[in-house]
This record gives sequence, structure tokens and C-alpha cells, in this order.
Amino acid sequence: MSSAPIGIFDSGVGGLSVWRQVVHHLPGESVIYLADQAHVPYGQRSAAEIQAYCAEIARHLLALGCKAIVVACNTASAVALEPLRLALPQLPILGLEPAVKPAVALTRTGVVGVMATPATFQGELYRATVGRWAGDVRVVEQVCIGLADLVEVGELEGERCDALLRSFLDPMLAAGADTIVLGCTHYPFVIEAIRRLVGPALAVLDPAPAVARHLGEVLDGAGLLSTASGSPQHRFFTSGESGSFDRALARLVGARAASECVAWQHGHLQRL
Ligand code: DGL
Repeated sequence: MSSAPIGIFDSGVGGLSVWRQVVHHLPGESVIYLADQAHVPYGQRSAAEIQAYCAEIARHLLALGCKAIVVACNTASAVALEPLRLALPQLPILGLEPAVKPAVALTRTGVVGVMATPATFQGELYRATVGRWAGDVRVVEQVCIGLADLVEVGELEGERCDALLRSFLDPMLAAGADTIVLGCTHYPFVIEAIRRLVGPALAVLDPAPAVARHLGEVLDGAGLLSTASGSPQHRFFTSGESGSFDRALARLVGARAASECVAWQHGHLQRL
């Protein structure tokens, strides 16, 4: 069981920002990554729709033998984390929530900006996180429609990317934010462009390293850390097109892999 893989999923390539940290922090672990590119982006979909996709993806990862699941998507975590935990109580399931707590600890101006999708901001998880940690710090919410799509197609720099980023960053800067939370796993792939636009005085927070460390603690606590001596296996699945996903793997995380395809049929994932 401890040599079983960890399952990580996202609507698309964004969760690879978590995948690379998991592989870095837990180098002995095998990982199965699933990108639901047939439905990306999740951010403007209804909670019911996202929950249905996540339930089926988790079932699929379980059928592939995963010992734990990381919902490497803030949007999916916002609406589907609790239902998944209720449906699969035997499995450690970790999710992502915007890193409001460290941002509140860091800010000197008393204003933090959060970049995320509409569904993330509408979810109860986000409300609870802000209610729990914000205190008297002002949290400026910036919906970033279109940014995950740019990352999906590999447009991580250039005029269009800068213009879109500026339109999201300017209102947060104007409000006095000195700390920016990347509340979507796609956004760390444009962190360099963001840092260039906001300058070195602002802190830009990617929660992925903390998530990977937490995963290590959870696996350790459950006696599930891998003790296998051979080299770990990394597999990638997409419900989209494998050729373009392979190119994204190489471009975003330097992984040379041939991804496998899954297809949605009547609400269920099938191997192709
Ligand atoms: N990667 C997802 C997240 O962390 C968002 C992208 C999408 O809208 O599908 O929220």
C-alpha cells in the first residue's frame, strides 16, 4: 500500500505546479497526474458540475490504486473537497485553499490581494479561510477570467499576457496590496511575469511548497510514505489531447513523458 502512487488532479496543467513540488519534496513517491482538459477551465462552471467531475476523477484514481489524492485545483477544492472526503473516507484527500494565512502574516500595508477564479471566491472554503485568518487585514478579491486559459495554451509571457495580468494587478495595487496570493494552481506558471510587473517590493505567494510538505506529513502520519527501493513511476493522464499535453509537460515542468488518454462517456472516465 505504501508503494502505491499518489493521485493528483486538476482541470488542466495548473496542478503541475503542485506536482513539481510533490516530486521535489517526496522524491521516492510514484505519482499519477490527471488533467481534465476536456472540461478546462472549471472556474466558471457550476458547483454541481465540478462536483460530478471530481467525484468521477477521484473514483478513477482510486481504481488506479492511488493511496492518497491531492485536489491540485483551488476551484475544485472550493466546491468538491468536502463531498469527496465524505464519499471516500478511507483515503487521505488534500485540497488547496488560497494562502490567506501566510499573506496576513506578511503584509505591512494591511491589504492583501487574492487572484482566483469565480467559483473559488463563491465557495464556502474561501469564505471560511478569510473569516478565520484575515482579522483586520483587508482582502481584495481579484477574479482572473482568462488567465488559466493562457497558461493552458502556453502563453506565459508577451503583450497579451502582460496586458491581462496588468488588468488584474492594477486594482489590487491601487487598493494598497503589498502581498499577492496566487489562488489558482495555474498562476504560478506566470509568477515571473507577475513579479516583473509588480516589482520586488511585493510578495507573491505560491502555496504549492507548503501543500507538498503537508502531504508528506499526512502520509507519514498514516504510515503511507513509500518505502519502495526502485525508482518511482510517474504517469500522466489527460481527458484532452495527449500530444499538446506532452508538450505542456516538457515546457512547464521539464517532464519528458508520453501521457495516456482518458475519455468521458456518459459521465464516466474510460481508458482509451
Ligand atoms: N487550476 C484551477 C484552480 O486552481 C483553475 C483553473 C480553471 O478554471 O479550471 O483554481
